Amino acid sequence: MSEINDPFYEAYDRDDIAYGETPSAPLAAYLRQVPVTGEALDLGAGAGRDTIAMAKAGFHVTAVDLSERGAERIMQRARRQGVADRVKTCVANVCDFKIEPGSFDLICATTVLDHIPTDASCQVWEGMLSGLHREGALYVEVHSTEDPGSDQKPGVDSDAPVSETAGAVINYFPPNRLLRWATEPDADLRVLRYEERLEWDYTHGPEHLHGKAVLLAVKSGVYPPWYGQPPAFPRR
Ligand SMILES: C[S@@+](CC[C@H](N)C(=O)[O-])C[C@H]1O[C@@H](n2cnc3c(N)ncnc32)[C@H](O)[C@@H]1O
Repeated sequence: MSEINDPFYEAYDRDDIAYGETPSAPLAAYLRQVPVTGEALDLGAGAGRDTIAMAKAGFHVTAVDLSERGAERIMQRARRQGVADRVKTCVANVCDFKIEPGSFDLICATTVLDHIPTDASCQVWEGMLSGLHREGALYVEVHSTEDPGSDQKPGVDSDAPVSETAGAVINYFPPNRLLRWATEPDADLRVLRYEERLEWDYTHGPEHLHGKAVLLAVKSGVYPPWYGQPPAFPRR
């Protein structure tokens, strides 16, 4: 995708790359506590803050995003961090990306299911579920209808500042939708953490507010050494 039709080109082209280098907090907490490695998939990887964290934890990561500039920045960061041999990028639409069943130990989708139409997000979600290995884990973040960029209540009534990239979000998740998906029996997941919250974002453009739904889950029957985020009662 060229500069002209990549809505994220400028955000990833800056010296101060959008979304920063700090990975998503619950994902980072999981990586610190749970000693699993293998194959990871980062859908809508952007400039790769989560990709790099998973690679540094020991995963081989496939990073999928529409943005070519994002993919270049991922590889630049991977080389700098010494993990380039564990990262590969794929410039593709997540709706067309074929996830091989049972092939990933960790699948991450930080704010991409909300960038595609609702029907497509259901299909990608199904692909993510079937793509998980039987002991796999899943990390998902989406913008919720609480986000001031949302065209639905309560976000639409908010006068809080909106993200510079809000125009790319077309599918704000209403309360509990992501949780419902994760707890459907067919999903075969065990939810470790689910939260709907507001958060201020200082990682790109003028400061702005977000409404988010955040999910961390593992396959049913998996009991990793997880003490929460931040870890609540770990052994001293
Ligand atoms: C808000 S950014 C999040 C980037 C990254 N996950 C992070 O948290 O830093 C959303 C990303 O989704 C990507 N994206 C949007 N629609 C997409 C699609 N249909 N297929 C692949 N990537 C897409 C954008 O290019 C952008 O990099």
